[in-house]
Amino acid sequence: MNHPSFDALFQPFSVKSLSLKNRIVMAPMTRFFSPQGLPGEDVAAYYRRRAEAEVGLILSEGTTVERPAARNDPNIPYFHGEAALSAWKRVIGGVHAAGGRMGPQLWHVGAVKNALADWNSGFEAESPSGLAAPSVQRGEVMSEEAIADTVAAFGRAAADAKALGFDTVEVHGAHGYLIDQFFWSGTNRRNDRYGGLSLKERARFAAEVIKAIRVAVGDDYPIILRLSQWKQQDYKARLADTVGEMSDWLVPLVEAGADVLHCSQRRFWEAEFSEIDGTDGLNFAGWAKKLTGATTISVGSVGLSGEFIRSFAGEGAKPASLDNLIRRMEREEFDLIAVGRALLSDPLWASKVRTRDLASLQDFNPSSMRELV
Ligand SMILES: Cc1cc2nc3c(=O)[nH]c(=O)nc-3n(C[C@H](O)[C@H](O)[C@H](O)COP(=O)(O)O)c2cc1C
Repeated sequence: MNHPSFDALFQPFSVKSLSLKNRIVMAPMTRFFSPQGLPGEDVAAYYRRRAEAEVGLILSEGTTVERPAARNDPNIPYFHGEAALSAWKRVIGGVHAAGGRMGPQLWHVGAVKNALADWNSGFEAESPSGLAAPSVQRGEVMSEEAIADTVAAFGRAAADAKALGFDTVEVHGAHGYLIDQFFWSGTNRRNDRYGGLSLKERARFAAEVIKAIRVAVGDDYPIILRLSQWKQQDYKARLADTVGEMSDWLVPLVEAGADVLHCSQRRFWEAEFSEIDGTDGLNFAGWAKKLTGATTISVGSVGLSGEFIRSFAGEGAKPASLDNLIRRMEREEFDLIAVGRALLSDPLWASKVRTRDLASLQDFNPSSMRELV
């Protein structure tokens, strides 16, 4: 490996009240280690270990807002109710004691069934049009009342995050879950004000969620919104095929109050519109930054040879060069970089990179997904 200076990764960064010591973000990763929806001491220690080892910002695993069918697995943590919130208070206490910064990822799965477990919440799944995928019916169509209650639940969760001392919140608007089901024409067939032919119209639900959070947290608290073109239901699906469509999608969300767009790709180096600017062109986070002026986070196979969907199929990955990432960070294509599996399996990943101890970076072994190292 030819390694240039990694300085671009270790520059401080601030957005509103959030000050970070470097550009490394732990990507949100569902771990299924919170029985009865309660993150225990093991979960708190897992996050604290990453804070102790130089991760600039930790995003929690998806944690659900207060709607009956928001979860699709009994071991996903809640972000509501006294017991879960006091458990989360221990988590942020540990991260802060280690000098870290953290935000919970607020989540509602919509109509997506958990592919890994045959579990039912006991409540009907809910989604914009009762569709888990374009031709897969599941659960109920959300009424306007259900939508309003869900928007309010996101607002309450964000207010709780701030009250507990978390430094930011991330809204999960990606990967084919509830908010993304509203964005996607394949799963949003509504003809009321939450549907429509344009992405801008289908972004109304997300914009309402962001506005409710803004009211709950005030002007100076940063709100992160995670988005993706791809869906777990269809990896090739895209919401925005043109720059104009991407602008129609993202600008209203930033105007609604999103400060940071977390642009999920499976491979961060892939150009978003390759026909426009070639293979080394801007990625999703690069275009999002250019079109909106918002802070952006990129993600996808950083430091590893294989991508994450294949990890669920049992495929391992080896450490890979960071040169391309550093080049893009030096030219300020995006502001922050999220790291998933490399940090899931090695809590010391960020400190090893900082001290250039690259020889001790580990392979990613999918068996590490079954434990909290
Ligand atoms: C075990 C696991 C759980 C994940 N859970 C979530 C999640 O709860 N929310 C989310 O937005 N993304 C989730 N992801 C996607 C990651 O945040 C990240 O985008 C993806 O792993 C690509 O980054 P990587 O190649 O560095 O692993 C998960 C990924 C993995 C491997």
